[in-house]
Amino acid sequence: MIKEKIDKLLNESVKKCGFGEQTLTISFSSRPEICDFQCNGCFALAKSQGKNPFEIATLIVENIEKNDMFVFSVAKPAFINVVLTDKALANEANLYLADERGGVDKHEKSEKVLIDYGGANVAKALHVGHLRSPITGESLKRLYKFMGDEVISDVHLGDWGLQMGLTELQLFEDGKLNFYFDGKGEEPEITLDMLNEAYPKASKRKKEDEEFNKRAEEWTLKIQSKEEPYYAIYKKMREASVKQIEKHYKELGASFDYWYGESDASDYIDKAIDIITDKGLAYYSNGALVVDVAEEGENIPLPKKEGEEQRYKNPMPPALIKKQNGASLYATTDIATILMRNESDKPDRIEYIVDGRQGLHFTQVFRVCKKAGISPKEQQLIHIGFGTLNGSDGKPFKTRSGDTIKLEDIINLLIEKAGEKLKSNGVEFDRELALQIGVAAMKFGDLSNFIGKDYVFDLDKFLSFEGKTGPYLQYTAVRINSVLAKANEEGGEIKMYSDDERNIVKAIFKLQSAYESCYKEKSLNGLCIASYDLASAFSTFYNNHRILGEQNDEKRKSYISLLKLVKKELALALNVLAIDIPKKM
Ligand code: ARG
Repeated sequence: MIKEKIDKLLNESVKKCGFGEQTLTISFSSRPEICDFQCNGCFALAKSQGKNPFEIATLIVENIEKNDMFVFSVAKPAFINVVLTDKALANEANLYLADERGGVDKHEKSEKVLIDYGGANVAKALHVGHLRSPITGESLKRLYKFMGDEVISDVHLGDWGLQMGLTELQLFEDGKLNFYFDGKGEEPEITLDMLNEAYPKASKRKKEDEEFNKRAEEWTLKIQSKEEPYYAIYKKMREASVKQIEKHYKELGASFDYWYGESDASDYIDKAIDIITDKGLAYYSNGALVVDVAEEGENIPLPKKEGEEQRYKNPMPPALIKKQNGASLYATTDIATILMRNESDKPDRIEYIVDGRQGLHFTQVFRVCKKAGISPKEQQLIHIGFGTLNGSDGKPFKTRSGDTIKLEDIINLLIEKAGEKLKSNGVEFDRELALQIGVAAMKFGDLSNFIGKDYVFDLDKFLSFEGKTGPYLQYTAVRINSVLAKANEEGGEIKMYSDDERNIVKAIFKLQSAYESCYKEKSLNGLCIASYDLASAFSTFYNNHRILGEQNDEKRKSYISLLKLVKKELALALNVLAIDIPKKM
């Protein structure tokens, strides 16, 4: 990439000047009206050499090998500024057009990454809180792959918890499971509608009726012990629910290598607990099996007031790995899953794209696994916690009646709103197309925020065809495709005729470097912004120039190739963002 080429020239000079193994690196210019790149490293270099920084910078610039690509100069107090010549810009543009990766380098070292995202809960309807994980997870997966990692994705369904017992018990009480217990009548089909009715009912009862809650817990334990008919019914509920989850994830463009759930780790639970107890890490507290995970600086007792419970600064409670009644918990299945993953895939890193509010849970799980050696020392366990989707009131997004909004309703709303937009643009309604645009709007609205931050979920804003939105990027790509479809010639060599082209190439430099910074930050906002900046540089060019109508052959051919280049760079970025390019808009 361009930065490395400039760094190389610079450091050859550093060597030539006798500054040994010291290296300088450049960054994007903070004053683009003056230069394209800048180097701030001469201050440190001068200090280590005991010399004057300005003199050092001057010496280095004087010793750079003569070339017609880059113009180096020194700016006071001791910056080295770099300006790219038109020859260099055109040269880079032509190289990127010929390269299938658009000039973006892969990492030299590939890591094996298991990425855990999606995480829908079986028997419960997906809702707005389930949006960020599949959206971000899918894009991070694509980013890691693009950068050369070997990536395995696992949806890790929530299918081993209390909601199973609650739902099943409710269905039983509603008389829908009689067949399984008295063998009378026909075996009933367990439908999604049945689950959608039973779970909310049960969840409400659980809060009001301690007795019911207790029975649901027993029922859950029976499922977890694979006792019949409880387990057989459970499998049917799971099947009905997973079908719906698959449909939704497909609509959101998320796909997975593994459709495992917590239940798939159930066979590893005993083994994991044995490992933990063999190491002497677990003990019983109030009948439950727990593991201490606090580290120094945590659980510092606060002054206790009369009659109050003891409170702690930096509280880090023990991890609960078995309930009093012997049932496993969320932490248990996560620990067992790490054991399972390390017996099969042995990833270098496992990343969890899960609500930031689960931070404590993951800290506990990771610590247990490290202490027990279930996760090898060198393996990275990472929780990428995302922020909350808020309504315009700054509180978690709800419907007008105060309910959490179902994913199904969000998808329908997206289709409806995108459909209206299309109509106002004179494009006939088409469900697939509206879905593509609606989902892109939501994804870009989501991904353009830093992963850990809360943001306001504002579909109207996301759906605008102008401004920093998904549809705007799609629209740019569609427009380029339509011009290229009309061109009845191949492009030629790209040349720089005006600042509009120069700005496009410079926007591409930024886009190329965004992959690496997003990889490091594990957040895609940088790629969203850089893609938008490229689209917007392209729009300026497009508005200022006639392309196919250009009379000068050489220029026209250069323009066509430039369009192809922008299309390629946008398509690569949109692919990582998992945003489809529609046929028309
Ligand atoms: N099912 C969980 C939930 O809804 C998310 C699962 C995340 N992945 C994990 N390995 N814990 O909160």
